[in-house]
Order: sequence, then C-alpha cells, then structure tokens
Amino acid sequence: MVSAPILVTKGITKRFGGLTALDNVSLAVPQNTITLLIGPNGAGKTTLVNVCTGVLKPDYGRVEFNGIDITGLPPYRIYSYGFVRSFQIPQPFRTLTVLENVLVAMKSGGESPLRSLFKKLWLKEECENIEKTFRILKVVGLERYWDWETYKLGAGQLKMLEVARALAAGAKLLALDEPIGGTDVSYANKIFENLRTIKEGIGVSLLVIEHRVDIALKYADYVYVMDRGRVIAEGNPNDVIKNPRVAEVYLG
Ligand SMILES: Nc1ncnc2c1ncn2[C@@H]1O[C@H](COP(=O)(O)OP(=O)(O)OP(=O)(O)O)[C@@H](O)[C@H]1O
Ligand SMILES: [Mg+2]
Repeated sequence: MVSAPILVTKGITKRFGGLTALDNVSLAVPQNTITLLIGPNGAGKTTLVNVCTGVLKPDYGRVEFNGIDITGLPPYRIYSYGFVRSFQIPQPFRTLTVLENVLVAMKSGGESPLRSLFKKLWLKEECENIEKTFRILKVVGLERYWDWETYKLGAGQLKMLEVARALAAGAKLLALDEPIGGTDVSYANKIFENLRTIKEGIGVSLLVIEHRVDIALKYADYVYVMDRGRVIAEGNPNDVIKNPRVAEVYLG
C-alpha cells in the first residue's frame, strides 16, 4: 500500500475479566481504501472498533488517527476529528424527509443573532448545503428519494441514509459494522458499489466489518482477518483467501 494509513493501532490488548478479547492487535487502515475486517464470531472485530472509536478503553496499546494519538479519548472527540462509526450517527427523524435528515447532520455556521444580520451570507450557506446534500444523496443512491419521509425507506436504504448523514457530518473514516446485514444479494452488491463510489468520489476511507465475505471481498482493497483476539492474516483479497490459516478458521 502506497498511501499513508488513516488509522493505526499498535499493540492493542483488551480484557474482559479473564477473557482476552484483543491480544496485541496492530493494524493499519490505508487512506482512501475499503479495508475489510473479517473473522468468525467472537474474534474481537467489534471490540477493536469500540476501542478505536473511544467506546472502550484499551488495557494496553495505542490508536492513531491521521497521525494523532486518540487512545482513550471520548467518542465525541474522535467523532469530531472525522472518524465516524455507523451506530454513533443519530437515528433519522422518521417524519422528516431524506433531504432534511442529511441537512440536519451537516455542520453549519448556526443561526446566531449576529449571523442573521448577514442574511445573504446565511442564504448562500443554505444553498451550498443543499447542493452538497444532493451530491451526497447521489453517491449513496438516494437522490430520487430526497423528498421521502424516512419511515418509508427499506432497511438497506436506511443504512445508506446513515452513511449519507456521516458524510454530511464530515466523516473522513467511516467504520461500518455489517453494512449489508439483512439485505438480499443484489442490494448487498449495490451497497458495496455505493461504498466504492463514496471512496472514489468523496475520498473517504472505510473500515468495514462483514460476515458475508463472498460479497465483501470483491470490493475490498485490503483485508485483515482476526481470530480469537489476534490478527491472523492480512493482505490483498486474492492473497488472503488463499491463506491456509484463513481457510482453517472459516472451514474449521
Ligand atoms: N462488554 C463485554 N463484556 C464481556 N465480554 C465481551 C464484551 N464485549 C465483547 N465481549 C467478548 O469479547 C469477545 C470478542 O467479541 P466481539 O464482539 O468483539 O467479537 P466479533 O468479532 O465482533 O464477533 P461477531 O462477529 O459475532 O460480531 C467475545 O468472546 C465476546 O463475548
Ligand atoms: Mg461484532
């Protein structure tokens, strides 16, 4: 990988009582990639993302985001740096439209009394925000549903709305835990195609946990495989599936 990593973990260890959920985990998520994190149930994937996003504190080790030490920082700080995890994104307002939901998530200059004096400025910003929102809706494939109230959306569309809101909030790295869970094969492929468009069109990096490896591997640039708290393999998708240790973990 040529590009500098956006996220680095160095020797992360996390124990729950006597259970070592993460055992000296070091990995790097390269910039502008879809990096896949796979492994059987209980491997430690979600725990690792929890540690990286500040939901859990590690017992040992260090997490760096864009070269900044973020170990043990509270989740909202890490979020404000642009490292966004899917479940951190507030639930959509069900009676607001798709467009409104994305607009709400967008960072704006606010509506202070002073700012309202500069109505022109404010209007300009509103227009820019709406344009930006449409650009985001387009890449996530929700453009034509812009005026739908969100309770009318299906499960897969809600996931894409979540991604849209994260992008609006200024995400530079998105961590998604099973983004295609509960969707059929064709919509699952569509979601990954959208993620690829987001990566290329907006320049966001993605760290994706996924169980449906057959689908996810087609879209991944880089793969980490975990088992029982450790990274057991890493590399390009083609090399990783050929790795005998990976086959052993998946086939038993
Ligand atoms: N808060 C917790 N308290 C105690 N044990 C936990 C806690 N969170 C996770 N564990 C344990 O840590 C281990 C790793 O769990 P984790 O959820 O990270 O695995 P995972 O790879 O995400 O699995 P899955 O694919 O099933 O989501 C498991 O044995 C789990 O039971
Ligand atoms: Mg998990």
